[in-house]
Amino acid sequence: MNPGADESLQMIKLNRRIAALKPSATMAAETRATELKAAGVDVISLAAGEPDFDTPERIKDAARRALAEGRTKYTPVAGMRELKDAIRLKLKRDNGLDYDVTEIMASAGGKQAEANIIAALFDEGDEVIIPTPAWVSFVAMVNLSGASATLVDCPEDAGFSLDPDRLRRAITRRTRGIILNSPSNPTGAVYSASQLGELAKILLDAGLWVLSDDVYEHIVYDGAAPHIFQIEPRLKAKGFALNSLSKAYAMTGWRIGFAAGPKEVIAAAARLQGQNSGNPNSITQIAAIEALTGPQGETRAMMEEFRRRRQLVVERVRKIPGFSLPNVPGGAFYVFPNISGLIGMNLDGREISDGNSFADLLLDAAHVAIVGGNDFGAPHHVRLSYATSIENLNSAFDRIESVIARLKR
Ligand SMILES: Cc1ncc(COP(=O)(O)O)c(C=O)c1O
Repeated sequence: MNPGADESLQMIKLNRRIAALKPSATMAAETRATELKAAGVDVISLAAGEPDFDTPERIKDAARRALAEGRTKYTPVAGMRELKDAIRLKLKRDNGLDYDVTEIMASAGGKQAEANIIAALFDEGDEVIIPTPAWVSFVAMVNLSGASATLVDCPEDAGFSLDPDRLRRAITRRTRGIILNSPSNPTGAVYSASQLGELAKILLDAGLWVLSDDVYEHIVYDGAAPHIFQIEPRLKAKGFALNSLSKAYAMTGWRIGFAAGPKEVIAAAARLQGQNSGNPNSITQIAAIEALTGPQGETRAMMEEFRRRRQLVVERVRKIPGFSLPNVPGGAFYVFPNISGLIGMNLDGREISDGNSFADLLLDAAHVAIVGGNDFGAPHHVRLSYATSIENLNSAFDRIESVIARLKR
């Protein structure tokens, strides 16, 4: 190879914000697991944030019919009218929220809807509050908009929930918004109605944009997750309900999600979508209409399976020396144990310095993939997904225990 080629590559000047962008930690962990599997290694992955169930047949049937009917053309950029109506119906049925079609944008996944809303709203000099631990992409999306993320620590002993006083103290002249996520990825924490009520008062007074990520709303174990706009309806005028069909309908690969909020911002986000990607996949949109408007029993059946797994995972995690899990997650399909007890230990000289280094060690030594807590803003934690079979979970925990037994101080 021409030695100059490498050098000239190094000299490429990327866009400043893109150059600073890290790969998604969850996707990176899953990719490493997939590569090892492809190389013939027997890896058990507890890394992926996706249900292991197949998409329900009625949804796949709707897609097959759409293909047979040739529904293969461009659609309106923010989604076809029938899909927006299905989303309106869902928001009313599940969240008690009324929206007009002009207040809805469908996108290629919740991720795209969120990124476009954040890009449309925030600018250089703005601050956006992110209660932490938080999903890895929130900070990246805020930084890409030019705004800066204000991470507000939500300690484990407070159930990983945002404390109203800490919220008050984090708000400055520059603060323009907050991103809430209940149930939370990665902690599984679910806000109660009274907690949301307290936060809502502060947010309303401060006049902040409230972005509510409701992606895990259907995976809750102790009654429905209340919606902050239902608790404080006045927030809805400066709020966005952000959601996805990925988790509730086991549709991660289909790429469909949506945002609902004030129409001026929705229109701006849709202009961005129109320029940088266009409409979400047409067949997926038709499948999504069936998902949202058809019988909702499959989601409940998945939930019950997650509940059984949660019990097993909590029991097994609590038995592992060096792990601690004070809070039983109230939602989503993750546990987020504290591994402070393992910091400073080593396996054959390889030291555990944080969640990421423990995750790397576990993948190499036990062929179990998990995600270190560092990029969630919790370097002494790790995230384990239980969106896999009970059999896989038991084998994964057997392997983890055998590695832990070999650790030395
Ligand atoms: C909290 C949270 N929000 C949004 C998303 C985006 O989901 P998708 O883009 O698959 O719809 C995810 C996916 O993992 C998530 O965990």
